Amino acid sequence: MDFLFDPSAEGAVLAPMASFTDAPFRLVAERFGALWAVGEMVMSRSLLQGGAAAWELLRLHPEERSRVVQLAGADPAAVAAAASLVAERVRPRAIDLNMGCPMPKVTARGAGAALLDDPERAARMVAGVREATGLPVSVKLRLGFSRVNVVEVARVLEQAGAALLRVHGRTARQRYGGRADWGRISEVAGAVRIPVVGTGDVRTVADYRERRALGLAVAVARGAVGRPWFFAELRGRAVTLAQKRQAAREHLELHLEWYAKRGELWALRAFRGHLSGYLAGAPPALRREALASESVVRVMEALTGVA
Ligand SMILES: Cc1cc2nc3c(=O)[nH]c(=O)nc-3n(C[C@H](O)[C@H](O)[C@H](O)COP(=O)(O)O)c2cc1C
Repeated sequence: MDFLFDPSAEGAVLAPMASFTDAPFRLVAERFGALWAVGEMVMSRSLLQGGAAAWELLRLHPEERSRVVQLAGADPAAVAAAASLVAERVRPRAIDLNMGCPMPKVTARGAGAALLDDPERAARMVAGVREATGLPVSVKLRLGFSRVNVVEVARVLEQAGAALLRVHGRTARQRYGGRADWGRISEVAGAVRIPVVGTGDVRTVADYRERRALGLAVAVARGAVGRPWFFAELRGRAVTLAQKRQAAREHLELHLEWYAKRGELWALRAFRGHLSGYLAGAPPALRREALASESVVRVMEALTGVA
């Protein structure tokens, strides 16, 4: 397997999250032991149109180990063409395809989770990207779009050459409501020979152990926001409060450096999602002030409020 991580190892993958899993956050997660860290979804069409913002989202940090980018689109030929450009310019080690996004503006075009309704087209996309890039292709799935058919889709994608599947245990219609169905994720793992990584609602070490007991590899998205040390804890490493505060400040430093060209204020505002996570347990007044602040010095100070 030419992937960078061993799906049977203890620990978890950082699952992609739009506006969160940028290079600085992926790097911080990797430093805490994330097994693999996947970049957020980028539309193939935007890349083919030369959109600077889309290409910027794909930028990899030289120290990242995972080097995996996620592409989305509806047309297999267009996604393969975009993947080929990405392979040449970004030099990823794997391409992840999004077949899980439930947002109507994505699915209305036949992309994201809508692909689950058309396994044949989904399979052509996997095969096309593999052929165009020669890279391993992983796929993010949900349990279904208009019906629950993830087991069938998983089999078809394995046949098409997918190297790994990440399955969010909800249907597209559920969005983020209800509980992720890990029983169904297990069914997928039992139906294919390629590694299956489950995702959905892992917030505590106990949640993680419960999922691992099913024999599954685990990915974490929301549970890692403002908590990148969660990856270390999942590997049995205790992280002290001082280390957490230090990590939060280092994340902000890395973030400011990474976005230096866009200006400090822009970068600081773009950090607010993470800041909100880091200060989840801080006194409400401190949190409110930090989230409105336009001063790097004040925000750095506020990060001593990580609790
Ligand atoms: C804000 C946000 C953005 C997301 N963006 C993406 C994305 O770009 N690509 C993707 O495959 N999944 C995306 N997801 C889904 C997550 O990767 C994950 O499957 C889902 O949140 C369930 O895992 P969790 O309970 O650990 O958060 C996103 C989720 C959230 C909350």
